[in-house]
Amino acid sequence: MPVFKRLMLYMKPYWWRIVLAALASSALGGLDAAFAYMIEPLLKKIFMTKDMFVFSFLPLAVILLFVFRAVCRYINDYFMGTAAQLAVQDVRNEIFRKNILLDLKFFYRNQTGSLMSRIVNDVGTMQNGVGDIVSGVFRDSIGLVSLLGVIFYRDWQLAIISILVIPLTIYPANILGKKIKLVARKGQEEAGVFASILQETLSGIKMVKAFSLESAMTEQFRLANLKFYGFSQKMIKYGSLSSPIMEVITSLGIAAVILFGGSKVMSNEMSAPEFFSFITAMALLYSPLKKLIASYGNAQRCIGASERVFEIIDAVPEILDNPHGHTISRDDNRVELKNVRFKYQDDYIINDVSLTAEKGEMIALVGPSGGGKTTLVSLIARFFDVNEGQILIGSHDIRDITKASLMNHIALVDQETILFHDSIANNIRYGKPDATDAEIVSAAKVAFAHDFIMEMPEGYETSIGDRGVRLSGGQRQRLCIARALLKNAPILILDEATSSLDTESEQMVQKALDNLMANRTTFVIAHRLSTVLHADKIIVLENGAVVESGTHKGLIQNNGLYSRLCTAQFAD
Ligand SMILES: Nc1ncnc2c1ncn2[C@@H]1O[C@H](COP(=O)(O)OP(=O)(O)OP(=O)(O)O)[C@@H](O)[C@H]1O
Ligand SMILES: [Mg+2]
Repeated sequence: MPVFKRLMLYMKPYWWRIVLAALASSALGGLDAAFAYMIEPLLKKIFMTKDMFVFSFLPLAVILLFVFRAVCRYINDYFMGTAAQLAVQDVRNEIFRKNILLDLKFFYRNQTGSLMSRIVNDVGTMQNGVGDIVSGVFRDSIGLVSLLGVIFYRDWQLAIISILVIPLTIYPANILGKKIKLVARKGQEEAGVFASILQETLSGIKMVKAFSLESAMTEQFRLANLKFYGFSQKMIKYGSLSSPIMEVITSLGIAAVILFGGSKVMSNEMSAPEFFSFITAMALLYSPLKKLIASYGNAQRCIGASERVFEIIDAVPEILDNPHGHTISRDDNRVELKNVRFKYQDDYIINDVSLTAEKGEMIALVGPSGGGKTTLVSLIARFFDVNEGQILIGSHDIRDITKASLMNHIALVDQETILFHDSIANNIRYGKPDATDAEIVSAAKVAFAHDFIMEMPEGYETSIGDRGVRLSGGQRQRLCIARALLKNAPILILDEATSSLDTESEQMVQKALDNLMANRTTFVIAHRLSTVLHADKIIVLENGAVVESGTHKGLIQNNGLYSRLCTAQFAD
């Protein structure tokens, strides 16, 4: 069971908790055996020899025994529970750490809700399983072995008869375990589906309202939930079948023992107290057996969940960081694309694009929607690796530059405004984690955001809600610009950065940006062509290929696509 072994490795750092729990657990298992063993001398002393001392001592002994049991149980539950929790906490940290390192392609392939479900639900299932299994196995194995000791000590022939049924339990246990694992895995996948519906509905709640999708979404959720129940129901079925089947099988053993043991008592080969001691030990013996078998099912469930978790932990990012790669100096900001081709899936989205941005130049990327502009700048930031060709910054292929250095070198204002549920100040601070308040304010001023921020109830400390829902589109964009400006990177990428601003604000932000672009290499993507008129070079992208490039003047004279786009926009 390599998966289970791996799971156990996570428990290793907490070994002393497990040892303590195991000791307590073993004591619990042993106590059952001691109790069964003691039946014989006690019955003899009390009912046969009428020993008053033993009789008066017994109630106290019972209380002490149960107090001791209670202490052992508490130690076991507490230490095993915390060990499992700590181990699973490490698993959860690791899955998050690994998951976040995977590249964008991975996240575009997998649904967010389903990934969340792995981190929350599957890890939760692991957590519930691990502690129970480990402590259960200790307690029940010790219990089983010591009770076997008692029955063999009492009467080895009867003992053999009573354990003959044990092999009979293996077959159903195995079948049930396999079914549980299969159903559990499918159930977890289904949980991912409804987590996805939940995630999408809640994050798209405005559209749900606008298109009156409430009942449709409710129905979709209900169906996914029902499907999940289908698997849960099967899991409960197989889980609950285990005990009854075992009980029926073990009743055969008990019946046989009553038959053979009873006749031994009648023929005075065995005393009644011995027989009771035997029967007690045997009845107690089947309980750990049953639990061990249930643990097996539980372990299968846990393994199913662990597999899904380990799949993510083991996923290898396609875009590998080269830790021995080059670090680029601030002056290295000439960007060159050489015959770049790239595809997300089957078709090339970027088709043989070559271009150079000299240090300090402003390059505008324009062209029809879906032409590949965003994709192209994503390649420069190495969110994806090119399929063919290469991208150079300074004299280095970006694949030979360390990720940290490359990311330090590039500041991005994305087409989608990406903000977090945090204060305004902190959202800007993501651009430079150690920025002072004064730096944040000055970045906000340059991005033309300071005034509206000061009008907010708590100024820079105002919380802006999930993804910045409490702000207007233009305000969000200005925060993103401030964040990128704060980063103060030599290469600036602005993907429709000012598209949500009114003309007046846009002109202001544009002026501020122009100052900043002065000694930076900047890529500007814009549909509003007024923002790119003065670019050093305008690249017109259509269907992933450069159809034209040059300055505004040159392109107008060319009378091609750019000129047509301009005519359409500046018609009035
Ligand atoms: N994650 C993705 N997976 C698969 N295909 C994608 C993905 N992102 C974009 N595409 C495809 O790549 C093409 C180029 O998209 P891209 O976003 O680069 O266009 P764009 O020029 O930025 O358009 P717009 O001006 O509308 O922002 C589109 O045809 C789109 O369908
Ligand atoms: Mg785009």
